[in-house]
Amino acid sequence: MTPHTDIRDSRLLYGCMGLGGDWDTRPWTAADLAHAETAVQAALEAGITAFDHADIYRHGKSEAVFGEVLARAGGLRERILLQTKCGIRLPDGDRAGRYDLRGPAITRRVEESLTRLRTDVIDVLLLHRPDPLARPQEIAEALTALHEQGLVRRFGVSNMSAAQIAALQASLDVPLVVNQLEMSLGRRDWVESGVLVNTSAAAANGFPHGTLEYCAAQGIRLQAWGPLAQGRFTGRADTRAAQLVAELAARKGTTPETILLWWLQRHPAGIAPVVGTTRPERIRACRDAVHRAVDLTHEEWYDLWVAARGAPLP
Ligand SMILES: NC(=O)c1ccc[n+]([C@@H]2O[C@H](COP(=O)([O-])OP(=O)(O)OC[C@H]3O[C@@H](n4cnc5c(N)ncnc54)[C@H](OP(=O)(O)O)[C@@H]3O)[C@@H](O)[C@H]2O)c1
Repeated sequence: MTPHTDIRDSRLLYGCMGLGGDWDTRPWTAADLAHAETAVQAALEAGITAFDHADIYRHGKSEAVFGEVLARAGGLRERILLQTKCGIRLPDGDRAGRYDLRGPAITRRVEESLTRLRTDVIDVLLLHRPDPLARPQEIAEALTALHEQGLVRRFGVSNMSAAQIAALQASLDVPLVVNQLEMSLGRRDWVESGVLVNTSAAAANGFPHGTLEYCAAQGIRLQAWGPLAQGRFTGRADTRAAQLVAELAARKGTTPETILLWWLQRHPAGIAPVVGTTRPERIRACRDAVHRAVDLTHEEWYDLWVAARGAPLP
């Protein structure tokens, strides 16, 4: 297996939000570790070498159990890319959930993630969501210090618009190289926004139009969270779109999961899906999205889109 040097070369990532047991503060268990080892092994077998985390997943247990997997599998850390995120604070007692991108908070969260992941360096750190109170200059100082100390190699954002990324980048010397957004055949506002221009339906589409184009122009890799749409097109519902996904998979000798991932990868902006299923057979069902070139014609791509939206394009 060849290690990645740049996250932007990863075609597919494994999302670790499902690892680490329940969403509570009890310690992870031996069963949680076995579950994580099986999932990571399946991801590696599928050819995936980039892993996505966040400090908050399962209250830190996703990172912690993954750190244990790394400690037990000698040499694995050197063969993978580790991405994590900071900036969201979960509800705590009477205190509501919130966002926190103050400089000291970023530094502290990264130090905690490094400890849990049992690694010396995070390959990519994403700012999980925008914090309306954050000052770009303060964020920049924190990220620059982490970079200079060799604790974080590269930076990106998640759930941010072009305008928000540009405002942040204006204060930052290190480039932002990733924007992770929810994108799938089920969550289509990002692609709809491009064709609703000058239609009455445009007002109902809340996606910040131009974000895809901005990221492509700036060399910012788009990553799609939720790419399998929680199974809505691959077994959890029997719709026309799900039938079409199954038909295309059979015709091309691949899996329905791959058809969903190819649908994202076919977009010229360059989208790397982050798959989050924890079932080994579903993880392995994604392997053609790493190993095979995208095999969807122009017409097939549109057929999937129109079937999923359930109405003709404008
Ligand atoms: N940046 C952000 O704000 C953000 C937000 C959410 C997630 N993420 C990242 O993105 C990753 C992927 O997100 P995701 O988990 O929502 O994506 P996903 O891969 O689209 O969905 C996975 C979920 O759908 C279920 N699923 C998939 N196929 C199914 C089927 N045929 N039948 C029934 N259930 C099915 C999985 O259950 P099984 O495990 O049982 O297969 C799992 O719960 C996460 O792990 C995380 O790393 C980022």
